[in-house]
Amino acid sequence: MARALLDVDDLTGDELTTVLDRAADLKAADDGRQPLDDRTLGMIFEKPSTRTRVSFETGMTQLGGHAIFLGPDDIHLGHGEPIKDTARAVSRYVDFIMARVFDHADVVELGEFATVPVINGLTDDAHPCQTLADLLTIRERFGGFDVDVAWVGDGNNVAQSFVLGAAMAGIDLTVATPEGYGIDDDVLKRAAGLGGEPETTTDPAAAVEDADVVYTDVWVSMGQEDQREEKLADFDGFQVTTELLGDRPLMHCLPAHRGEEVTDDALESENAIVWDQAENRMHAQNGLLVWLSEQ
Ligand code: CP
Ligand code: NVA
Repeated sequence: MARALLDVDDLTGDELTTVLDRAADLKAADDGRQPLDDRTLGMIFEKPSTRTRVSFETGMTQLGGHAIFLGPDDIHLGHGEPIKDTARAVSRYVDFIMARVFDHADVVELGEFATVPVINGLTDDAHPCQTLADLLTIRERFGGFDVDVAWVGDGNNVAQSFVLGAAMAGIDLTVATPEGYGIDDDVLKRAAGLGGEPETTTDPAAAVEDADVVYTDVWVSMGQEDQREEKLADFDGFQVTTELLGDRPLMHCLPAHRGEEVTDDALESENAIVWDQAENRMHAQNGLLVWLSEQ
């Protein structure tokens, strides 16, 4: 099996540092280096995307390569053809595969059968590319990872990868979720093995008390639209307002559902570092792609 990034802990701690350093170096260089000259990235999307698609596609162009967008109506994945056949066929053309799918097991199967690196571009359980960008953003902002982060909101994909990345980086993390929306036990166990489980609570105010940064994500994730009413009720009291935020920086993976997990004024305030996070998606992924090409 080729190297893959199905979740952050597919990298060792040293590899994570190398990828972030490479990302920072590429971001700073802007000198026309084209390390992925003639390389192609196949991008499989079962769900919509703004940042993931545009950052990977632009990143490949900057690195001298090319990206192919393969949307749900463009290829046979999952309907006309088993995933393992798509993985083996597409691997004969491209140098990397990035996939955004619903079921995490599908990206695992892609990774098992592909003969080129598979990068998880978001599943229902994980979003490692987002975590790479988040770590790059935190390191730029604070000069390192001696930082207390409060996660306020749903404990699914973005939160779960961040829990793993925080454990690897040595970030002190507190996760506040409503009852029943916490981080999976398996992810908590993996975090414990990597350097430390987050503190968990159901009280957002307690979570942010000692925090340097507050991070949130939507309550109604892609594919959960039929749970909307139930989730809005369950997350009552978890909205990130300017009052909860105080003068702390605000992180959000985006897209944001203003008026739900975050207020418009919090997102529009100077505390929001969400656009740096969005930009860093591309730099972090550029670092990852170049590193993967060297493995
Ligand atoms: N944060 C993120 O993955 O955004 P998109 O859904 O726009 O790709
Ligand atoms: N939790 C969100 C993240 C989007 C990047 C979702 O899955 O829709």
